[in-house]
Amino acid sequence: MDALLAACGREVIREHVPRATGETRRLARQFGGSETAAAQATLLHDLGGVVPRNRMVPLCESLGVRVLPEERQVPLLLHAQLSAVLARERYGVTDGTVVQAIRCHTTLHVSPTALDLVVFLADKLAWDQGGVPPYRAALLDALRGGLAAGAAWMLRWMASPEARLLIPHPDLRAAWAAFGISPPG
Ligand SMILES: [Fe+2]
Ligand SMILES: [Fe+2]
Repeated sequence: MDALLAACGREVIREHVPRATGETRRLARQFGGSETAAAQATLLHDLGGVVPRNRMVPLCESLGVRVLPEERQVPLLLHAQLSAVLARERYGVTDGTVVQAIRCHTTLHVSPTALDLVVFLADKLAWDQGGVPPYRAALLDALRGGLAAGAAWMLRWMASPEARLLIPHPDLRAAWAAFGISPPG
């Protein structure tokens, strides 16, 4: 997998994935659940990023993956769907809970599992925007109240102007609603 990322010149993802996997292992140990499943999901979560952005929509269409209007507008949102397909088809992941955690790692969804939350939060703690995320200390603090509290804190931050979200994915809107968070106005 590392070789694939290197061959595709995806150095940012290549650097981000092991950091995110370290966070995943730490969260899984702290909050319980399968560390192996969480690590597997995190290792594969951004593989879809090997697909060039302008090929994401056509590739999803050719694979029979439904493309939402928001994803058509911001094709990068599809990287998570494509990671899930690659995990299944190329890496033989058969555990549906792992595939789901990969698919919803960017946004969460209406009823996330503990595994979904671990992978989502690990991805955010080890973000790929360079340096330490500005919210890291506050998120770690929120996590002292548990996984759900950490996820709620992160989702609230994602609804803030600081997140500079291009467009909220419907799954993110569903997660906001499920956690009682008002979407940005
Ligand atoms: Fe991602
Ligand atoms: Fe990521």
